Formats: sequence, C-alpha cells, structure tokens
Amino acid sequence: MDLDAFTAALPKVELHLHLEGTLEPELKLELARRNGVDIGQSTVEEVRATYVFDSLASFLAVYYPAMDVLVTRADFRDLAMAYFRKAAAQNVRHAEVFFDPQVHVARGVAFEDVVLGYHDAVEEAQRELGLSAGLILCIVRDLPVESAEDVVERMLEFREQVVGIGLDSDERGNPPAKFAHLFARAREAGFKVTVHCDIDQEDTVEHLRQALEDIAVDRIDHGTNVVEDPRLLALLQERGTGLTCCPVSNSFVTDDSKAPVIADLLRRGVKVTVNSDDPAYFGGYVTENLVALTRAASLGPDELIQLQRNAIDISWASDDVKEGFLAELDAYEALVAPPL
Ligand code: ADE
Ligand code: ZN
Repeated sequence: MDLDAFTAALPKVELHLHLEGTLEPELKLELARRNGVDIGQSTVEEVRATYVFDSLASFLAVYYPAMDVLVTRADFRDLAMAYFRKAAAQNVRHAEVFFDPQVHVARGVAFEDVVLGYHDAVEEAQRELGLSAGLILCIVRDLPVESAEDVVERMLEFREQVVGIGLDSDERGNPPAKFAHLFARAREAGFKVTVHCDIDQEDTVEHLRQALEDIAVDRIDHGTNVVEDPRLLALLQERGTGLTCCPVSNSFVTDDSKAPVIADLLRRGVKVTVNSDDPAYFGGYVTENLVALTRAASLGPDELIQLQRNAIDISWASDDVKEGFLAELDAYEALVAPPL
C-alpha cells in the first residue's frame, strides 16, 4: 500500500476546524440565493477569484463578510452537515470544531439558532455517519471584550451542546490575557479551554507564555513558535499540552507550511496533531494536510499513526469514543503494517 493510500484510509481525528471556514463556494452561493443576500459574486469562479490572501489579516478580510449568507438555524445545520459528510468520507471518526457566534449575533442572528443549528448537525453526524463531534465556541479576539462576555454568558446555558471555549481571529493587540476572566469563568463551569497562538504573529512568544502560564490552557491551536523559547517548550512537554497544527493553512498565512518544525516537535514527543483549519479557503481537508506534511517532512506510517494517537489523547472525546478509536487504530496498524 502506498503512503497516500495509507493516509487516506487511516482513521482520523480533527481538532482544529472552523465551521465557517468550511463554507465552500457552491454552498455559499446556494445560501446567498436562499436568503436573498448579495455577496457580489454569482459563480464559483467569481467567488474563488476573491480568495487572495497572504497573511492572517488578508484571509480574515475575505472570511468574515462571507458569513452574511448564514441566517437561519437550518443554514448552520446545513453548513456543519456538509463538513461532517466530507470528514466522514476521509475517515474522520471524531471532530472538535470551532464556531464564531459573535460575528453572527452582531448581524442580528439569534445565539441559539447558531448553537442549535450546529448541534442539530452534531446529532445527525453521530446518527447517520457514526462520527462523534464537539462544538468549541471561539472568542473573536479583535471584537470588543463586551461582545465576548455576552456570548460566554449565553454559552453557559448550553453546557450540553458546547464542549469548550477557544480564541481566534487577529492577534495584533489582542493577547490571551485580555480574556483571562472569561476562560476562568468557562473552566469553572466545566468547559475545556484552547487558544490560537497563530504562526509568526507579533508578540507570539508572549502570547504562548500567557496561554501556558497565566491561563493554563488544555491545548494550543497552531503554537509551533514555542520552539523559540526553551523554557516554554519544556513546560509544554512536561504538561503534555497538545498543539493543533495546520500545515496547508500555514502556507497561506505565512510564507511556508512549517513542516520541518511540526515534524521535529512530533519526533521530540510533543503532542502534535495535524488538522485543516479553514479547508474551503485553503483547499485542503485533513487528508490533504497529512499528505502535505508527509511529503514535506518525509513522515513514515508509524508517525502518521502517532499523530492520530496524539489527537485522540488530547481530544475532549468521551472515554468510550477514545477507547473505540484506539482499538480501530490498533487494528489498522496491525492490518497494514504487521509488526516484524
Ligand atoms: N479564524 C478562522 N481561521 C482562523 C485562523 N487560521 N487563525 C485565526 N483565526 C481564525
Ligand atoms: Zn484556526
């Protein structure tokens, strides 16, 4: 079996995926028509022609306006279901997925339509695809703190539907510490905590320090700049804090995929995982991200398996889901790579 086929058939876990970043041009146009929203483009080619970005800020400038097409509970369900179908087709068994409610609420969409629409899809994915999923509410760090406070307060009513809280969007001037009180509140109420420390951002090492030391996050999204500070790297290793890396996305928001550093951290025992971030915009779901990393850093099948072990380990899945996944992974390993 060649390595691409091995990667395609590998049972997988996805931990860094923005649901709004899965809005493919076809669905964007369909929702625009359904809701009578003028997005300024009317063909897939025209939509794709707007996908010009070379930094986090230029990506976000394309990403946020597109969300206008999401209006009703059914729209959020349809978006998430389209993603879960793609994920299941790539053998993803468990997915923890971000959503950005502040952006929707600011447009007049009801908070519960967002959460319950996405949750409808989580239930449907479990029922119809055997895929388990958890929702992570992301604070949009460049919106006013008060708007983050409002959605976190609302989130507390949805303990059954939401598993954790995250922090995304433009990092400049928006350090994790700005939201420390909200992470503390969420954790106290039983939610898990993760924070984006995007690649090569301004003050990136200080943001990593705050995430690890001041907030004591459960994991970090991206975060590979941790190699710049041996003390923080040691702390990360000591705690077993995982990193959710996205090589294809890295090559859009910075000048390369950071494959060597991701592979180096993996080989040093850091709980690195590989994920897709915003696949509709960056053109790669989880399999394509694994293939890109495998080619760029010459990973072997054992390392591809280790990435999945790391992912289920740092996931917030139930014990049942974790055990079931590990049993499937062991069986896959034994079948395709019998021990000598
Ligand atoms: N929101 C959606 N994708 C993001 C990314 N890659 N970084 C920060 N915020 C995001
Ligand atoms: Zn992200």
